[in-house]
Amino acid sequence: MTAEPLLDISGLDVGYGHVGVLRGVDLEILPGAIVALVGSNGAGKSTLLRALSGLLRPSAGRIVFAGRDIAGEPPHRIIDLGLLHVAENRRLFRRQNVHANLELGLYGTRLGKDEERRRYDFVYELFPMLAERPQALAGILSGGQQQMLAIAQALMRQPRLLMLDEPSLGLAPIVVDQVLAVLQRLRGGGTTILLVEQMVERALDIADHAYVLQNGVVIGGGTPDAIRSGDLIRRAYLGAVSDREA
Ligand SMILES: Nc1ncnc2c1ncn2[C@@H]1O[C@H](COP(=O)(O)OP(=O)(O)OP(=O)(O)O)[C@@H](O)[C@H]1O
Ligand SMILES: [Mg+2]
Repeated sequence: MTAEPLLDISGLDVGYGHVGVLRGVDLEILPGAIVALVGSNGAGKSTLLRALSGLLRPSAGRIVFAGRDIAGEPPHRIIDLGLLHVAENRRLFRRQNVHANLELGLYGTRLGKDEERRRYDFVYELFPMLAERPQALAGILSGGQQQMLAIAQALMRQPRLLMLDEPSLGLAPIVVDQVLAVLQRLRGGGTTILLVEQMVERALDIADHAYVLQNGVVIGGGTPDAIRSGDLIRRAYLGAVSDREA
């Protein structure tokens, strides 16, 4: 039996004003998977995440999440349905401390005290470096710690689908390892993940499936092994030049 996709995108067009960026995007994510989305600068990866989280309204197509079409829904509704977006720029409250940033992750929820406690315990156990400095201001943390705090803040809502936009950006290799290890642990616990990454090899290492985006179009997808042995990556990164030479 094949599982129903948790996220099922079909025929999606998204742009900024009259400028089209994504064209006819089809993509699906099965529950419990890590799906990587790769592609060169300007391919439209962040644009897709913005459309999924309700920050941009698609001009065509469907985004079915957990059985309902969320295309055009406002961001807060989408968050409430369990789709969380950790944006590229790690939108933290820099003048608030670690604990307050986690608390803001719970904004608008109505959980009992025990459940709230359980969620703090969960993220502090996952990120011991945050547990060590709950009173530290977010703005003085290292880039890696800020990335972890941004992920932890999203996890406070116990997302069904966690979308991360280039979590490795600007991080030292050892910190990238730590972040990716956390994503694998989360997948082990049942969280579904959509990972946008420029570090293609690293993303393929932990992904169950990957899609390749080029100039706003999904040019293919497959298992990491299939992607590694095919020429999609070369086409996506070298683009029209190598296509002409081929
Ligand atoms: N706010 C915006 N207004 C107009 N055009 C935009 C805006 N943001 C992005 N674009 C354009 O949309 C296209 C896709 O950009 P996007 O940021 O989604 O790419 P990306 O794949 O995330 O690239 P990167 O790897 O650099 O993050 C680019 O041509 C970009 O110039
Ligand atoms: Mg981007």
